[in-house]
Amino acid sequence: MAIQQLATPEHVHPGRAPEISVAGIGKRYGSSTVLQGVTLSIAPGEIHGIMGENGAGKSTLLKILGGAIVADSGTVALDGRTVRITAPRDSISNGISLISQELALIPGLSVLENVFLGRWSNTGSLLRSRKDAAHFARLLEETGFTLDPRAIVGTLPIGQAQQVEILKALARGAKVLCMDEPTAVLNEAEKAQLLQVIRKLASSGTTVILVSHYLEEVLGLVDRVTVLRDGRHIVTEDAAGHTPESLVGLMVGREVDFVIPEIPPVPAGAKTVFEAVGLTSTKVKDVSFTVRQGEILGLAGLVGSGRSEALLAAFGADRITAGHVEINGRRIRGNSIREAIKAGIGLVPESRKEQGLVMSRPASENIALPTLSDRSLGGLVRVGREKTAVAGITRSVDLRGARKGAPIANLSGGNQQKALFAKWLLNPPAVLMVDEPTRGVDIAAKALIHGLIVELAARGTAVIVVSSELEEVIGLSHRIHVMRQGRIVAEFDRNASRDEVMTSAFMK
Ligand SMILES: Nc1ncnc2c1ncn2[C@@H]1O[C@H](COP(=O)(O)OP(=O)(O)OP(=O)(O)O)[C@@H](O)[C@H]1O
Ligand SMILES: [Mg+2]
Repeated sequence: MAIQQLATPEHVHPGRAPEISVAGIGKRYGSSTVLQGVTLSIAPGEIHGIMGENGAGKSTLLKILGGAIVADSGTVALDGRTVRITAPRDSISNGISLISQELALIPGLSVLENVFLGRWSNTGSLLRSRKDAAHFARLLEETGFTLDPRAIVGTLPIGQAQQVEILKALARGAKVLCMDEPTAVLNEAEKAQLLQVIRKLASSGTTVILVSHYLEEVLGLVDRVTVLRDGRHIVTEDAAGHTPESLVGLMVGREVDFVIPEIPPVPAGAKTVFEAVGLTSTKVKDVSFTVRQGEILGLAGLVGSGRSEALLAAFGADRITAGHVEINGRRIRGNSIREAIKAGIGLVPESRKEQGLVMSRPASENIALPTLSDRSLGGLVRVGREKTAVAGITRSVDLRGARKGAPIANLSGGNQQKALFAKWLLNPPAVLMVDEPTRGVDIAAKALIHGLIVELAARGTAVIVVSSELEEVIGLSHRIHVMRQGRIVAEFDRNASRDEVMTSAFMK
C-alpha cells in the first residue's frame, strides 16, 4: 500500500463548503462542442441538481470539476478565488470529490483501506491505526452508514460500495460532492438511504451536486436546479417552482408526452414462443414460465431475487445445472450463448460495459454485431445495405453524438444504452429479454424505448422485461411474475397494483 499523506485541504473551511462557481466553461472534442459558455454558481451547503437530455454535457461538467478532464476554456472558483484544476488531485486538494457511476474502488482491499487509500496514516504504529479506526467511526456517525471496516469491497452490494466511495471522499476532506447518477444502480431501500445521507451532509455544510434522470427524485431533494441543453446553460432556478413537466420542457426545448403507450392485447391463440422448464443454476431454483408470441412478460422482484440470473441462465450465459429452455417447442441444449442467439433469443443485459458493448468499437458496429452473419456473404459484409439499416435504427432510438469510426466509449451514458437496445432491432429475435432497458436514459428516450418494446411485441416478438422500476414492469407487461430468492413466487396480470407486487416481492 502506498503511504502518501495528502495535505489537509487548506482552502476549505472546516464544516463549511465554499461557494463554487464556474464561468464560461467550454469543452470540445474535435469539431464537436460539448460544453459552451457554462456559467453558474452554487451556494455552500446547497443540494444542486444538474439536468438535461442524454448527451447534454452533464457528466462532462462534473468530470471537469473532478479533474477527470480539463476544460478548454473558462474558470472554476471557490469563494471567488480561481482554482486551477488539471487533475483529480487538484480537485481533491480543493475539497471537491467526484463520485462517478463506475466506482473507483479497489475490489480486493477492505472498506477501511479503500476509505483511507493514499492517505493512510498507519505507519506501523498502533496509535496511528487507532486514529484511523476512530476517524472511520466518526465518518460512520456523520453519515449514518453501517459498514464493516474489514469487509472486502469487491464482495459488497453496489449500494454499500457506493457508501465506501462517499466515505472516501469525506475522509479526503471533500466539501463539494459531485455525484453522477448515483441512484441509477440502487434498489428502492438503498435509494432512500442515499437521499437521506445527502440531506444530512448538506445540513452539516457539504455541497452536493447531483446528476439524475429521475425528475421526481431530484425535485424532492434539491434546492436549485440547473438545466443544460446541447452543452449550453439554460437556467439555474429554485426547484420549488418546478414540476417534472416544466423541467422536461426546459431540457428538450419543447413539450413532450411521456406516458407508457397502450399495450395491445396478446392475440387469442398466439402460440407459445418461449418456455423455461425447471431452469436451475446457482442463483435460480426450478424456474418455469412461458411467453407467447406478442406477449410482454415482466419479472419483478428485489435486486438479488434472481430476475437477471434467470435471463442469464436462459441465454446460456450462466451455467444451468438442471432444466432447459424451449423455443417454439424445440428444446435447446443450453449453456451456450451462440446457440441461444441462433435459436432466436436476444438479451439486452444489465451491464452495458461488462456484458453488452464492445467499448473500443463504433456504435454502428456494435449495433450491427448480432446480425453480422446474416448480412455477410462469404465473409464480405454488404456494407451499403448494412449502413442504411444501421442508420435507420440509429434514428429510431434517437441515438445522438455517434461520430464515424469513434469508439462507443465516447458516447454519453444514455446514448450507449440506446445502442445496447438498438442491437436487437435490426433483426428482431423470436424472444427478446431486456434487463433494465432504460437505465440512464432521459425521460424522452425512455418513452421512445417503451414504445419500441411495445412495437416489437405487436410485431410478434415475445418480450421478457426485468426492471427495478416497478412502474416500468407493471406498465409494460401483459403478465408479471414476481421472483424471490431465485424462485417464481407469484403471478399477476397487468392490473396489479404496485403494493400487491411489492408485498409479494418482500414476503419472507
Ligand atoms: N471522449 C470523448 N470524445 C468525443 N466526444 C465525447 C467524449 N466524451 C463525451 N463526448 C460527447 O460529449 C457529449 C456530452 O456527453 P456527456 O457524457 O457529458 O453527456 P451527459 O449529459 O452526461 O449524458 P447522459 O445523460 O447520457 O449521461 C456527448 O455528445 C458525447 O458523445
Ligand atoms: Mg452522463
